[in-house]
Amino acid sequence: MSDPWWRSAVVYQIYPRSFCDTTGNGIGDLEGIRRKLDHLVWLGVDALWLSPIFPSPMADHGYDVADYCDVEPLFGSLEDLDRLLDEAHARGLRLLLDWVPNHSSDRHPWFLESRASRDNPKRDWYVWVDGTPETPPTPWQAVFPAGPAWAWDERTRAWYLHRFTPEQPDLNWSNPDLRAAMLDTLRFWLDRGVDGFRMDVVHFIGIDPSRIAPGFDGPTDPARSHAHLREIRRVLDGYTGDRVGVGEVYILEPEELATYLGHDDELHLAFNFRPVWVPWDAKTYAREIDRAESAFAEPRWPTWVLSNHDRPRHRTRFGRDGAARAAAVWLLGVRGTPFLYAGEELGLQDAAVPPELVQDPMGSRDGCRAPLPWDATPGHGWASPEPWLPWPPEVDTRNVAALREDETSILHLYRRLLAARRASPALHAGRQRRLDGPDDVIVLERERDGDRRRVLVNFAPETRRCPADGDWIVEVASDGVGEGAAFDGRLAPDGAVVLRPER
Ligand code: NOJ
Repeated sequence: MSDPWWRSAVVYQIYPRSFCDTTGNGIGDLEGIRRKLDHLVWLGVDALWLSPIFPSPMADHGYDVADYCDVEPLFGSLEDLDRLLDEAHARGLRLLLDWVPNHSSDRHPWFLESRASRDNPKRDWYVWVDGTPETPPTPWQAVFPAGPAWAWDERTRAWYLHRFTPEQPDLNWSNPDLRAAMLDTLRFWLDRGVDGFRMDVVHFIGIDPSRIAPGFDGPTDPARSHAHLREIRRVLDGYTGDRVGVGEVYILEPEELATYLGHDDELHLAFNFRPVWVPWDAKTYAREIDRAESAFAEPRWPTWVLSNHDRPRHRTRFGRDGAARAAAVWLLGVRGTPFLYAGEELGLQDAAVPPELVQDPMGSRDGCRAPLPWDATPGHGWASPEPWLPWPPEVDTRNVAALREDETSILHLYRRLLAARRASPALHAGRQRRLDGPDDVIVLERERDGDRRRVLVNFAPETRRCPADGDWIVEVASDGVGEGAAFDGRLAPDGAVVLRPER
């Protein structure tokens, strides 16, 4: 049996608001994504994941869904989504949507019904506790903004649970009708042909009503989350085409994270977020690789991510261009499915967002959500010169058009890495061994069916010597130097290489 496509794929995350605006309202849209499909094929990614595109009052920029089965008018229409999907598929690109199962918007018709009266048939689709306005049922705090995870609703004199903003009431997955309705929302998109879903905070969904009491640290019973994930998996498995479920399971212990793959009957993939929190340092990364290799040993498969829409970009975190280039070699050379965040292939840094322009309900995530600059014109390829957030730094030179022109750019490095990875079974599907290297250097050996590669990453901003046994050719170098020539054992400052055996 051949490997499912998502094991060897590179997934490219698009934050639709920030990708490309074609209507002039300062907000990116589906048509903007469609127009850039050929560019993404040129770059060489395999799949796109769109952060939520559903109708939303945008209290959390789409992670507050008011209708799971339609498209937000700011982004376009259902027809636009169908067209995008068709045109992506015609180019061999898969498309993943971002399903938000833990909470809806407070404007979702389900919540409007639920809050209308205590005996409404949908009352129990959310988590309500009767009480008095002075004291929330438990001391639980929301993830953001700072404050209780409960909001008082005067009409029915009860509290509802919201582990994120008050505009994002938690859905009650212990109710079978809610579960059936949510599974139907998956079928709606699967029937239209989407290739799978990224699933928002999906480890939270196993609500156990008996835990909604002081003394518990939250309402989630992991055993229930696992059971719901098995139900979700059965829906995906009912379709042909290896539809994939990728879990945002925000658990930083890889061993526990891996349990959310079940016995190949829960999620297919789960994000390992450790690299977005740890420093760029060889010892640290060696440890992270070893931990993931053991927690996600075959038949499991790891994921890797350096940047996303919730954390400062890794170029900003690491502070050096060279380190961002070396990190690209690491991300596309390590065993697992990599997730790229749109803009990292440009080496983008976070925008500086002055307090009066802050949009994010958490307050800290706007910088990495800055709009993508397509060219050096005043509007940088956007229909409006005034996008919803300020442009990132160096926008006149660090934009898609300028970097496509410059073969030494980081954009071309990503393109060469993606091409090398696609062509090499060792890189996109092989097993991995970490070899000893000098201080500050990580050495990975990859192998599949006789195909071999070595990935060497120098984390130090100084030269390191790392002689390789045998004769190796530099296939890709993070600084572009020496590609196609024999490897001489020297790693440039912040230098990283992919090597192939001479024969
Ligand atoms: C995780 C998402 O990545 C984040 O952007 C969002 O704010 C929360 N989940 C709540 O949906």
